[in-house]
Amino acid sequence: MIKIENLSKHFGELIAVDGLSLEIPQGEFFAFLGPNAAGKTTTIKLLTGLLRPTGGGASICGYDIQRDYIKAKALISYIPDFPFLYDKLTGREFLDFIIDLYPKSHNKKTKELMKELLVIFGLENYKDYLVEYYSHGMRQKLVFAASLLHNPSVMIIDEPMVGLDPHSAKVVKDILKNKSRKGVTIFLSTHTLSVAEELADRIGIIDKGKLLAIGTLDNLRASFDIKGKLEDVFLRITEEE
Ligand SMILES: Nc1ncnc2c1ncn2[C@@H]1O[C@H](COP(=O)(O)OP(=O)(O)O)[C@@H](O)[C@H]1O
Ligand SMILES: [Mg+2]
Repeated sequence: MIKIENLSKHFGELIAVDGLSLEIPQGEFFAFLGPNAAGKTTTIKLLTGLLRPTGGGASICGYDIQRDYIKAKALISYIPDFPFLYDKLTGREFLDFIIDLYPKSHNKKTKELMKELLVIFGLENYKDYLVEYYSHGMRQKLVFAASLLHNPSVMIIDEPMVGLDPHSAKVVKDILKNKSRKGVTIFLSTHTLSVAEELADRIGIIDKGKLLAIGTLDNLRASFDIKGKLEDVFLRITEEE
């Protein structure tokens, strides 16, 4: 479903992503785990077509993210680390605005879905408040709700748990687990081992732009001793937020 081939991104002298190759099958919950500045956000921006690679490429469901940008994007929901919201809209107006961006989603079903999502994310009672009065957790949940309006096949999420209160974090995790069970492919970046541990089918460990290891948590633990270099990386990955 997601295919990354020899992907690189250089910022001048700095190599943020260094020849990354990775395949994620449909329905997998994949955690991209690495310390700060490992290259997670840059990889995600390449994967969502927001940055142009220095080398290599990526495709979503066979659609090249550079050449078939529109088709690839239609399948994705992307939740950035610092989402942009319009403070002067209410929560509901924001969701209506997102629906307007997807012409095909103008139907009764999408409106129903919007109502459901407001309830699921605990925003029903706040939907008529301006977004500027939302807490960080509420803003994040609104972004998640917005990202699900077009029924994405792939969710690409950059550090979703950062700064979330425990209740909001649980709501978000439950939604992700539920989507994963329903066959949605999830690519989630995190610098927190416990998040990867709890959610992912498979974990890829990235540091200095390189994929150091990939596998289930058990696989990784088993290879941990063999690859001494992983130890240093693990020390820089925090256990908690
Ligand atoms: N636009 C940019 N210009 C220059 N350097 C950048 C830019 N974006 C990211 N970097 C650098 O690339 C490296 C990887 O960053 P990033 O992908 O944000 O890491 P992570 O998300 O894993 O914390 C860092 O050293 C960061 O400073
Ligand atoms: Mg980042």
